[in-house]
Amino acid sequence: MADLEGNLDAKQYAPQTPLATFTHAVRGASNLDWGMQHRLARIISPDTGRTVMLAFDHGYFQGPTRGLERIDLNIAPLEQQADALMCTRGALRTSIPPATRAGLVLRASGGPSILKDLSDEHTAMAMNDAVRIGADAVAVQVFVGGEHESRSVKNLTTLVDAGYDAGIPVLGVTAVGKELTRDARYLGLATRIIAELGAQIVKTYYCEEGFEDVVAGCPVPVIMAGGKKLPELDALTMASRAVRAGAAGVDMGRNIFQSTNPAAMLSAVRAVVHDDAAPEDAYEIFRSGSGETS
Ligand code: R5P
Repeated sequence: MADLEGNLDAKQYAPQTPLATFTHAVRGASNLDWGMQHRLARIISPDTGRTVMLAFDHGYFQGPTRGLERIDLNIAPLEQQADALMCTRGALRTSIPPATRAGLVLRASGGPSILKDLSDEHTAMAMNDAVRIGADAVAVQVFVGGEHESRSVKNLTTLVDAGYDAGIPVLGVTAVGKELTRDARYLGLATRIIAELGAQIVKTYYCEEGFEDVVAGCPVPVIMAGGKKLPELDALTMASRAVRAGAAGVDMGRNIFQSTNPAAMLSAVRAVVHDDAAPEDAYEIFRSGSGETS
């Protein structure tokens, strides 16, 4: 029964104080609905405006991958160190603890295996399953310049529309075909197209020349994709250059889970991304985390 007597009168309305406004650190997100901004804040740290996303969705087109033979054994122990996990719903449901506090970015495009033309993708997950899982974003590959460019763009825009219905952001991934060059001209073209067609985050590869222009020309956060396994110091140097050029963080897979010590490498990447550590200092974090003393 409601308490009709003894209630304290409400009186502290602070009429001279304007209603609070909340500025958000995520580039291009201030006009989005609250739910989308909330989910973006679960991926991109409000403290630093950056993210360390751990990518392990490789099996969706290439099957078993070195370092991902047993996601429950190889990746689950790392989840607490990642701001967000990027994976398939199959990997998530079978191999990642539901109690994880990491942001969840779910692969939502797919189709061809490495035996076929990779640009021949379709959407591969319904938005209501992303809602059911509690995803913070869905990810779709966009093959600008690829054989099936238009279809991949349609996959993106279909997911963006469904994402607005559900309040779930879309991460558009620039997929670089074998015949395309990873230079600033191409990456600038691809990232801009993906953002203008509605993705709230874009993932792209790093390029040595002009990466700051790629980032500046994209009105939403650009996350650097890791790429093939490099020596640890080289991977840390690439990540450092990317964030210093304006990237809102990294989405790295092989350079973490194929490292000799994935947990130590993840710590080192975090230092580069969130603390602006110099690559050499981050490399020392990797070495000491790996038990190397000299
Ligand atoms: C592409 O989007 C892939 O599915 C991976 O998520 C991406 O390439 C990041 O992984 P890696 O750092 O191994 O390239």
